[in-house]
Amino acid sequence: MTEHDSLPPDRRDADSLPPDERDAGAPPDADAGGSGDDVPDAGTTGEGTPSASPGGSMSGAPAEAGPAADPGTSSEGATAEGTPLLSVEHLRMLFPIKAGLLVDRQVGQVHAVDDVSFALYEGETLGIVGESGCGKTTLIRVLVRLLDATSGAIRFRGRDITRSGRRELAPIRREMQMVFQDPQASLNPRKRVGQILATPLRLRGVPREQVARESRELLQRVGMAGDVLNRFPHEFSGGQRQRIGIARALAVDPRLILLDEPVSALDVSIQAQVINLLDELQDEFRLSYVFVAHDLSVVRHVSDRIVVMYLGKLMEVSPAEQLYSKPIHPYTQALLGAIPIPDPRVNRSRQRAVISGEPPNPINPPSGCRFHTRCPHATEVCRTIEPPLTEYAGGHLAACHHPQNVTAGEVAAATRSDQSPLSAGAEGPSLIAAGDGRETSATAPVQR
Ligand SMILES: Nc1ncnc2c1ncn2[C@@H]1O[C@H](COP(=O)(O)OP(=O)(O)OP(=O)(O)O)[C@@H](O)[C@H]1O
Ligand code: SF4
Ligand SMILES: [Mg+2]
Repeated sequence: MTEHDSLPPDRRDADSLPPDERDAGAPPDADAGGSGDDVPDAGTTGEGTPSASPGGSMSGAPAEAGPAADPGTSSEGATAEGTPLLSVEHLRMLFPIKAGLLVDRQVGQVHAVDDVSFALYEGETLGIVGESGCGKTTLIRVLVRLLDATSGAIRFRGRDITRSGRRELAPIRREMQMVFQDPQASLNPRKRVGQILATPLRLRGVPREQVARESRELLQRVGMAGDVLNRFPHEFSGGQRQRIGIARALAVDPRLILLDEPVSALDVSIQAQVINLLDELQDEFRLSYVFVAHDLSVVRHVSDRIVVMYLGKLMEVSPAEQLYSKPIHPYTQALLGAIPIPDPRVNRSRQRAVISGEPPNPINPPSGCRFHTRCPHATEVCRTIEPPLTEYAGGHLAACHHPQNVTAGEVAAATRSDQSPLSAGAEGPSLIAAGDGRETSATAPVQR
């Protein structure tokens, strides 16, 4: 029995299938998205402009006929210059902890995502990293509305979708697709590949007689043979299953794909192939990605910017290369120190920050800076006051009272980000323990 089988029927649809399949499975009266009636108009299907190239009509669709023609987004229009494709403001997801034999009482809350704000721009890849349990999966499940946020706002092309109903969400869900960590669990084991791809293609409005051809083209585009439509998911390797998962996401002609550890379950050589494939698809279909991983080595080459999370909070947000060359947050430094270097001699001799101890309990997170129980630079202020997200030069944000790798001048020029948590204190950072002989004790108020 697979993980998919073992889920109760309602969760099978709600959790382990991507939004397009969930909608497709709904009775027509429950959601127009589930009927053939609500498929985008002919303009969004690529009008069966099959090209000889792999990808067929997919390659012609996105730029001209895609989102602008979609009835769900036309009122907002295409993303205006400077308007993020997706943005979140002070987003929180707290899971209630219940106890009691006869009556459920709430005895606590898991702080899975706690006051998180960021923006993603068209064509961008935003990497999200952090240790197991820091809230990465919860965050992207909230973004695609598989979970309802406790508070805060999610905007897609500027439109607030935080509380949108299924009917209003249906066209947006076709623009936002999700690829799951475990391709075995996310593909329905009782459906053949042809059926798995047919559902989203029909949802996009592809005429029934063209579905098989488009399915074959999609499979070829993700590097699979087109003649596997009659096979079941268990007949493929993990890498092939992940390619099928990517093909399924592409089938609805999305603008944004949220990838939850898409290569963690694959061995290293296959990881590289899948990452290269995602890279090519991004250029070809003008996709934006949110790419979740638990270590910094995977996201380095795919991300434009990287978000580092710890215990539900943002610790650092930075252009990708800058995060590796100049990590400001002690937690980021520790994550970087955990990346193995292939040469064992270099690996042994290098000095690296290590994180001691286990992550604290997210039901009762530490006061002040959540990282203070494990941080080698923690002082009293860290235990009592939550640091604001502070913006340094180059769009580099970090939430730390004692930032690393920055000079007094850089601290003086830094500003408090409006993405700071509401619970953060007013105090800006001071410099201690830069560890390389530069000025290390200046206290500089953050400009507001
Ligand atoms: N449905 C739920 N009910 C209660 N707590 C939950 C639920 N889902 C997740 N959590 C808790 O929320 C926190 C964040 O979990 P999440 O799965 O988002 O972490 P993650 O960063 O994706 O971890 P991993 O790298 O292991 O996948 C964890 O403490 C987890 O136990
Ligand atoms: S605020 Fe303090 S405890 Fe938190 S990361 Fe910075 S130095 Fe460490
Ligand atoms: Mg996860």
